Amino acid sequence: MTAADFLVTTPLPDPGMRLLEAAGSVTVAASRMTRAELADACESGDYRVVVAQLQDEFDAALLDRAKIAGISNFAVGYNNIDIAAATANSIIVGNTPGVLTDATADLALLLILAVARRCVEADTFVRSGKFSGWEPELLLGHDVSGRTLGLAGFGRIARATARRALAFGMTVNFSPRPPGERVVSTEELGEFAGRVHQLAWPELVATSDYLSVHVPLTDETRHLVDESVFRSMKSSAILINTARGPIVDETALVAALRDGTIAGAGLDVYEDEPRLAAGLAALPNTVLLPHIGSATVPVRAEMARRCAENAVAIARGELPPYPVNPEARAR
Ligand code: DGY
Repeated sequence: MTAADFLVTTPLPDPGMRLLEAAGSVTVAASRMTRAELADACESGDYRVVVAQLQDEFDAALLDRAKIAGISNFAVGYNNIDIAAATANSIIVGNTPGVLTDATADLALLLILAVARRCVEADTFVRSGKFSGWEPELLLGHDVSGRTLGLAGFGRIARATARRALAFGMTVNFSPRPPGERVVSTEELGEFAGRVHQLAWPELVATSDYLSVHVPLTDETRHLVDESVFRSMKSSAILINTARGPIVDETALVAALRDGTIAGAGLDVYEDEPRLAAGLAALPNTVLLPHIGSATVPVRAEMARRCAENAVAIARGELPPYPVNPEARAR
């Protein structure tokens, strides 16, 4: 390979950097790159592959001028990259699918339980010295067992969440591609046939005690959960989002949580990350996590391995093992 094969915008956990360094020359950005810095670097012709993070935005204007062979995104999601523009410019994109499914589903369950049982409030209560003994009505929450979970989406992470929810004795319904409809056959349901039920999106919204978001961020799903959805939900319902922030209208969410339109929310992602909508952080009926769905040591290591393997393959002119747009190579 030639010099400066890889531009790494944020260092990867082990074994990512080792794999990259063994395969070629690596430049690591000194600090978080601005859009202008990223665009200049992509345009410079100095790098074959950019090893990127979700915060690095590759829009069409940047990609049209970029002189890179590819982008290896350290994430399964790739909503930070305009894939059509990448393909049009023969820029191949790789991602890290499969390895973070269980960890993210674990987090969705954690949020359901934490909001339902007021875990953060309870923890704060004990730490602040207010606990003076068992009380009949101390920090009463919501039931989980016997309640209904509505899954917006029915991909890998939604299914893993369904598996866990069923084990908790929940009724599980889903809507596979909201707001659109697509009938999921019994065959496609596999292990879930007869155990979970497909509902139209409006019905899913209206019947869920917990509504959990598991769709990718696209033009169709941006603000999928908006003020009208909140108005259709049960006032006792809890919203869970471990997918992407902009799927939920966060300003409308704050209003719905404030005025009791819904009962609570558990969020791992935000509309304008890392910023929070005004008022969100002050609401006690929320549990707010810093986008840690995939944050376990083994999962991040496996993501780093896949990300590095993608980058190395692209730098060698090969199809990466986890390509998002394999058609880009044929152009
Ligand atoms: C992803 O991979 O898309 C997550 O949001 C971060 O792990």
